[in-house]
Amino acid sequence: MSDWTLCIDFGTAFSKAAVAPKGAWSRFDPATVRPLMLSAEGQNAFLLDSAVFVDQDRVLFGRAALDEADAQANNKRTALRSFKTLLSVSDLERALNTNAPATIDPHRIFQMRDLIVLYLAYLLASIERAIQADAVLAQGGVFSRRYAAPAWRGGDSAGMHNVIVRLFGEAEAFRAIVGKRLVSADGISLRTIIDALPKATEQAQSLDMGLIYEATAAAAYTSVGLEGSGSHIIVVDMGAGTTDVAALARLGPRTIELPEARVTLKQAGDFVDRVIANRVLDNANWAKRPESKAELWAVLMSQMGDIKEAVMVDGRATLRNQGRSITLSRKDVEKDEDFRDFLKSLREAYDHALAIVRDDARARGRSEVQAIAVGGGASTPFIQDLIRRKMESTRPRVIPRPATPDWAHAREFKGNLAPVFPQLAIAIGGALAPESMLAARGGAIPPANDRSGIPVERD
Ligand SMILES: Nc1ncnc2c1ncn2[C@@H]1O[C@H](COP(=O)(O)OP(=O)(O)OP(=O)(O)O)[C@@H](O)[C@H]1O
Ligand SMILES: [Mg+2]
Repeated sequence: MSDWTLCIDFGTAFSKAAVAPKGAWSRFDPATVRPLMLSAEGQNAFLLDSAVFVDQDRVLFGRAALDEADAQANNKRTALRSFKTLLSVSDLERALNTNAPATIDPHRIFQMRDLIVLYLAYLLASIERAIQADAVLAQGGVFSRRYAAPAWRGGDSAGMHNVIVRLFGEAEAFRAIVGKRLVSADGISLRTIIDALPKATEQAQSLDMGLIYEATAAAAYTSVGLEGSGSHIIVVDMGAGTTDVAALARLGPRTIELPEARVTLKQAGDFVDRVIANRVLDNANWAKRPESKAELWAVLMSQMGDIKEAVMVDGRATLRNQGRSITLSRKDVEKDEDFRDFLKSLREAYDHALAIVRDDARARGRSEVQAIAVGGGASTPFIQDLIRRKMESTRPRVIPRPATPDWAHAREFKGNLAPVFPQLAIAIGGALAPESMLAARGGAIPPANDRSGIPVERD
């Protein structure tokens, strides 16, 4: 039996997780890295939709939650999404204790905190299912856990650590009570939740988990194979909720972040979705009444993944609605004023971070800075332009790195890993990173094993 490190990346749109053998940092072998197939129903097995839907008499999670929300969209019912952004607000306790709005919870019984705990329980149960389905990992061993988070609130993430490990602790206690029912596509009944949630809150202990900053984790995967070179790294992570720019320097065995370089923008994939939908609505002159606008908006949002990819990759998307056809080009998006403001802030943020990381590299006599883009937005043309911009020839040079390493194409991943590698880079880097890269520490726990149905004991 081996010892493992598990890293959980709870994302605004998708949650991801990966496992690496302990000590993988110093003895890196790509074949030993195990990204977890968290999703049985989603479009890609490695991506678990971060979504909760409160139905008439049950609660659904992940893809099933989104599908049911689509089916009931006419009844003004929506799934809870993007709830990770809640964790970044300044008055966190208050935000967690807020009641969920009626469109999300028609019964008015849940606070936001409850829904986050339920989702984290589903995430932990999905991780456990993926571990049991993995021939190597299912043999057991000790798993130490960490989660990746942005450096929220001007670098006070370590302060948030206690709140988050508490939420994970409640989620783990809930999972121990409810077991595998959590990952059923039919969800779990309200009755079960109403019975188990207060017990879980009472029994919960803070989960023993380390914290790694998302940018540090992204830098870890990039630098793991680059012994000797790649001492300085600039990372752009465009996810769904935030776009983060960060700079790191590797000094011997230690990787430090250059904190003055960090910038977090609140515009990312979700924002681009809204820009695209608004442009279509502006052009759709048959949809003038509020109801038709709302209906078109819902249709656009349910197909946004495909629309966005077509606009970004092919330069245009053609959509059909109520027998009409409408084309949206990348140029239309680039003309949008909000989008232009975002690009301007993004360029400023990147230039600011780049100046700092190049100064640091120069001061330490280094000749290169590696630039990488991660997150779902990594392959978009404007992010690629950013990291590939020609620099003056003076040293240190900026070397753009590919978002997807060669090993992600290995046969064992059946072609599923490479297309989403930029989204998994944080979970994978976080599992590979040595303890010295953590922003807050946790200890090791024995492997969770819900085959017995008995709550896991911790040491
Ligand atoms: N090929 C693509 N082109 C453009 N956007 C994409 C592509 N693939 C995914 N996305 C977008 O990337 C976002 C999801 O990326 P990711 O999984 O990195 O986000 P996240 O980790 O959930 O968010 P965050 O890091 O902000 O919490 C979504 O907005 C999705 O639409
Ligand atoms: Mg992310």
